Amino acid sequence: MIDPDRLRRQFEAEYGEKPRLFSAPGRVNLIGEHTDYNDGYVMPMAIDRRTYIAGSARRDSRVLVRSLNIDSSIEFDLAHPGPTRRGSWIDYVEGTARALLERGFDIRGANLLLESDVPAGAGLSASAALELAVAYALASLGGATHLDRVQLALAGQAAEHHYVGTLCGIMDQYVAALGQSGIALLIDCRSLDFTPIPLQLGSACVLICDTRVKHELSSSAYNERRQQCEAGVVMLAAELGRDPPPRALRDVSEADLDACAGRMPPLIARRCRHVVTENARTLAAAAHLKRGDLLELGALMSASHASLRDDYEVSCAELDEAVAAASGQPGVYGSRMTGGGFGGCTVTVLEREAVDRVSAAITHQLESRFDKTPRFFATQACDGARED
Ligand code: GLA
Repeated sequence: MIDPDRLRRQFEAEYGEKPRLFSAPGRVNLIGEHTDYNDGYVMPMAIDRRTYIAGSARRDSRVLVRSLNIDSSIEFDLAHPGPTRRGSWIDYVEGTARALLERGFDIRGANLLLESDVPAGAGLSASAALELAVAYALASLGGATHLDRVQLALAGQAAEHHYVGTLCGIMDQYVAALGQSGIALLIDCRSLDFTPIPLQLGSACVLICDTRVKHELSSSAYNERRQQCEAGVVMLAAELGRDPPPRALRDVSEADLDACAGRMPPLIARRCRHVVTENARTLAAAAHLKRGDLLELGALMSASHASLRDDYEVSCAELDEAVAAASGQPGVYGSRMTGGGFGGCTVTVLEREAVDRVSAAITHQLESRFDKTPRFFATQACDGARED
């Protein structure tokens, strides 16, 4: 855990003035995977791991940032855009700053000192936490008093698209911007509205398992899945002959797909099936969670995992093993891979008293089969970006 007061003191020692403090969280997605870039539904929550930034405004247009995590500094000038895709963390920070300027935010130069306890590269959206902490800090230090959080999220996503080179959806940045304590967000990724779903967990909790594996494929396979979905929409529009035609897989029902799948390439049909059924599962899961029906929620989480594994093919042996090891245990409602896939984390909803037993069972399986020791985070739903 980060000690925000220590970060304040360190800033004061380095810059000789009192900073303002900002932070944004990582996230875990309960259900609704690979649906965001199909205009669909997702249900993530912000977690109790955050990126903190101590900062103060400068009189010029330079932004100086130092990370305590990797003991590294970057600098850029808002008046002179740097190159995109430098392959370092400057892409996230300068990309976000540029996107804020393009959206009309009045931002100025700043000194920023940052520290994070969102594990990097684990699939818990450390990059969105960084983007949103930067966005919130720069917009606030620029003098804004009312921040449009959706615009901040879009700025973070634009940094990924244009500076980092990842064609991600909006889920991670959205929940880092708009997360709320005690709730999951049912996000409509087309309208960019959300419905707050209170986490009615009773004696249960949310357990994240970081398998600590990351397969190389992830970003090329992610972009390939997006293209397959787009190709699917074009085929479905031609087959269905509807007016207006479907704009995204969000506009396609399971019955539509059943009617057309036989005339589509089987791989594309399977990709589409995952997205179409996952949207339906996500809406149903939100309704069950709202009622506190964890058995139904858990069954949908398990079905989501099977669909990601079999139809969307973004799971991997380690994730499948972690999910299988959890699913066999008493006290477990449901378990699935979470995030983009090809490694990273699983999310499990289970009784609190089962956490140690389930963690031990997963550890045993991953150690004996893959020689990998996972780490676990029992987490709660927390606030999105804020001034601390
Ligand atoms: C990554 C992306 C998100 C989303 C998930 C899959 O986390 O950043 O936009 O597409 O994968 O659900």
